Amino acid sequence: MFTTALIKPDQTQPGALPLDLFAVIASLKKELNAVILAHYYQEPDIQDIADFIGDSLQLSKAAADTNADVIVFAGVHFMAETAKILNPDKMVLLPDVNAGCSLADTCPPDAFAEFKAAHPGHLVISYINCSAEIKAMSDIICTSSNAVKIVQQIPKDQPIIFAPDRNLGRYVMQQTGRDMVLWQGSCIVHETFSEKKIVQLKIAHPEAEAIAHPECEPAVLHHASFIGSTAALLKYCQQSPTQEFIVATEPGIIHQMQKAAPYKNFIPAPPMNNCNCNECPFMRLNTLEKLYLAMKNCTPEITMSEEIRLAALRPIQRMLEMSF
Ligand code: 13P
Ligand code: SF4
Repeated sequence: MFTTALIKPDQTQPGALPLDLFAVIASLKKELNAVILAHYYQEPDIQDIADFIGDSLQLSKAAADTNADVIVFAGVHFMAETAKILNPDKMVLLPDVNAGCSLADTCPPDAFAEFKAAHPGHLVISYINCSAEIKAMSDIICTSSNAVKIVQQIPKDQPIIFAPDRNLGRYVMQQTGRDMVLWQGSCIVHETFSEKKIVQLKIAHPEAEAIAHPECEPAVLHHASFIGSTAALLKYCQQSPTQEFIVATEPGIIHQMQKAAPYKNFIPAPPMNNCNCNECPFMRLNTLEKLYLAMKNCTPEITMSEEIRLAALRPIQRMLEMSF
């Protein structure tokens, strides 16, 4: 059941009724023939109203398969952009156009073109957390849930560039035994977890298992008994007999973990400072109110040149073919 989300009445208009956001969004959805896709890092209200919640790979597949006319993408820019690349004729809305990604920003197209030119003969595998321009310069896209599987399918004598996340790249190298040239990008959220505080939590909760997203630094991954994408972490918590977990990824996922296993305890891995920097500041720019306004006004809409879209589509399609 949805919780009720009310916008307070406008005091300058006596008699105006409060707006039930869940109800108006549901009716806009019908009016627009829209589907709402949400990432696990979105605020709980958005997760609760979404038609589909998933990790990056599941959301790309959902975007590729939808029959809706409008895709409301509650996630960050590169995710909505991927939906547009797959659906040029559909309208793709992002509740806050500034919902970017610090990792995608570490890889500007000009610098990446030079990096590629400095490594001739390399196959370029790019993590989906990058701009359409970087995708257009790549041979295959991957996500955190299929990166190992994709690299394992590449002939052993084929040199590989992996971009932009060095932590995921390093993890894939360990899992596959492959050497890869890594672009040195990283995510501000997954680099914020404190190894010291995670060890302290493990001491205070000796029965708890630490689980982590592969974007975390090696020192944090070292303490994790399971490493995986957001969807894989969720599945693991449901299936494991363990009752308590220390979760080293953005804490938005805990909403679904708690729903899936209400009697288990989920402890968000703490950041180094006494701040909320384990919450992705970009994902959290989207709110239920902005989602409503985006649907009401059909803006902000994701657009891109057809040239970039077609070039970015090829490596995404290759990923979808290679991840079954
Ligand atoms: P997932 O592939 O688990 O959805 O990760 C996306 C992401 O942005 C992690 O920071
Ligand atoms: Fe980007 Fe990190 Fe936020 Fe994921 S958590 S969207 S990688 S900034």
